[in-house]
Amino acid sequence: MLAIEIDKLVKQYKNGVRALDELSLKVKCGEIFSLLGPNGAGKSSLINILTTLYKPSFGKVTMLGKDLCREPAWVRTQIACVSQRVSIDEHLSLMENMIFQSRLYKVEKAAARKRISSLIDSFGLEQYLKYTVASYSGGVKRRLDIAMNMVSMPKILFLDEPTVGMDIVSRKAMWKIVRKIRDDFETTVFLTTHYLEEADQLSDTVCIMKEGHELAQGTSEKLKEYTRQNILRIGFADSKKAENSVNLLEEAHILPAISVREGSIFADAGDNRQTFEQVNKLLLEKQVPFEAIEIVQPSLEDVFMKLTYATGGISNGDN
Ligand SMILES: Nc1ncnc2c1ncn2[C@@H]1O[C@H](COP(=O)(O)OP(=O)(O)OP(=O)(O)O)[C@@H](O)[C@H]1O
Ligand SMILES: [Mg+2]
Repeated sequence: MLAIEIDKLVKQYKNGVRALDELSLKVKCGEIFSLLGPNGAGKSSLINILTTLYKPSFGKVTMLGKDLCREPAWVRTQIACVSQRVSIDEHLSLMENMIFQSRLYKVEKAAARKRISSLIDSFGLEQYLKYTVASYSGGVKRRLDIAMNMVSMPKILFLDEPTVGMDIVSRKAMWKIVRKIRDDFETTVFLTTHYLEEADQLSDTVCIMKEGHELAQGTSEKLKEYTRQNILRIGFADSKKAENSVNLLEEAHILPAISVREGSIFADAGDNRQTFEQVNKLLLEKQVPFEAIEIVQPSLEDVFMKLTYATGGISNGDN
């Protein structure tokens, strides 16, 4: 059985914004699924629908085999959601927060005690028990927030940008916890992120979305194919100079799928050094006023560019 199946989902807000535009995707039970997309792609809109906060305009959502619109109350008993805003009560202690949550979900006392101590252990929260919650760092607060949401033992846990604003150390600690949720508690994790690397490192399946619909969905291995491909960056003093040089490069037919942003030209570098040398030679011969030429790791935008070209070219890579 699938954890979530979404078929041609549309969400149109009253102001006319179509946040989801015939989005379809499938989430398997027990996997970490990442929804990757830039600001405004529709990630939070989708989470709000899946957690029964908003109603879809059109389309069908099936969760754990049941129709979301027909049985929202049942769906609510099977899920938990950690939103971008931390929802812990800073006036209570860590333990009080956990106990409060267990009462909210009517977890029987003895079972709650067992779960809470196992979650504190799994999430590495023991060392913080003696401090007040208000003194915790943002990362630890978020960790506690997730632990609290696990007290009800949800079948599916939704995490809306769980690592936004974190440094790389806290982010890696969070990845470890998300994996533990999947492995130790067998919970399906559905998360959203802006970060290519995060989706790549963490997920079993990734769906890349933009402007309300999916561009690609597949294993993180598949995503790696896009991220492995190096990108050639040619830097200019300003955007105008960069734009003026695009024609010349296009006419030379060395680089496929060229895009311009922030005063640089970006293009697929392939695997070989030959492309780099050919382009470098051409720029020097034609006295193009470039300031830098280098091979860089692809960004999310480069992957979007590649995908939008592959699916018929709906954009030039600028978001
Ligand atoms: N309640 C609402 N009413 C009207 N428009 C909305 C509402 N919520 C979101 N939108 C619009 O829908 C689009 C998608 O927004 P959404 O918040 O779902 O994107 P997101 O992918 O979560 O972005 P971010 O990465 O910034 O969190 C945006 O254009 C946004 O302005
Ligand atoms: Mg959002």
